[in-house]
Amino acid sequence: MRLRTTALKGMKESRTPIICITAYDYQIASLVEQAGIDVILVGDSLGNVVLGYDSTVPVTLDEMVHHTKAVMRGSKSALVVADMPFLTYNLSVEDSLRNAGRLIQEGGAQAVKIEGGQAVVETVHRLTEIGIPVMGHLGLTPQSVHQMGGYLIQGRTLTDAKKLMDDAKMLEQSGAFAIVLEGVPTELAKIITQDVSIPTIGIGAGENCDGQIQVINDILGFSSRYPKHSKQYADMNAVILQALNDYSHEVRMREFPTSGHGSHMDPSILSDLLKGESI
Ligand code: KIV
Repeated sequence: MRLRTTALKGMKESRTPIICITAYDYQIASLVEQAGIDVILVGDSLGNVVLGYDSTVPVTLDEMVHHTKAVMRGSKSALVVADMPFLTYNLSVEDSLRNAGRLIQEGGAQAVKIEGGQAVVETVHRLTEIGIPVMGHLGLTPQSVHQMGGYLIQGRTLTDAKKLMDDAKMLEQSGAFAIVLEGVPTELAKIITQDVSIPTIGIGAGENCDGQIQVINDILGFSSRYPKHSKQYADMNAVILQALNDYSHEVRMREFPTSGHGSHMDPSILSDLLKGESI
């Protein structure tokens, strides 16, 4: 049985850290499952770390549905949240409901995530009203990279900090079950976390949030550049490169495959086959 969105509030109340990670495919999702991680986000960071785009902006709804399905097949008990890509929840409320519906109905996700504050509260309200749980996302919102002028820490000025606090309150009131706080000062993340009754999930927002999320490629050392807030718990680039070099070397030297790696014919059939050949 999967963790429910409704369980996260209890985790905040009991001060149990909520552990979240992104995943994009079956095999990684099954390892995340084995590690007992609470929440999997099928993030639109898919665009950067899997599909090779230079931002999350080009990611499509079809791509998100495709990868959400794979993650659902690989996991059993984690709560799975799928990101709504750029422009799939900003054009009209009706359009947003239909698009979110695809991630839930076709993708199998239990909830969707949406970037933004005041601008999306009506959509959040309607989605939750029709039964689609929503995770908010405030601060450094990567889909607005062009508007922000880069991947910059948000909420540094008094006006910006107050706006983020208001946005968090509005998301809470419109029914969001949790809020990702990305790239905001530690102190501001702490104030917002104390201010709202729903859990905050931090990434580059310090240690005071109710939970933490990271992009899985970043913590595995399986990427080409790493944000300052991340920590590499493994060096998968090196592990994979070593394996690829060893494989290439052995094939070149005819050391792989050995006879133990192949299948073999019944000797009598082989003998008949060879006799036939000589006729
Ligand atoms: O797309 C993503 O991976 C995200 C996380 C960084 C929160 O939105």
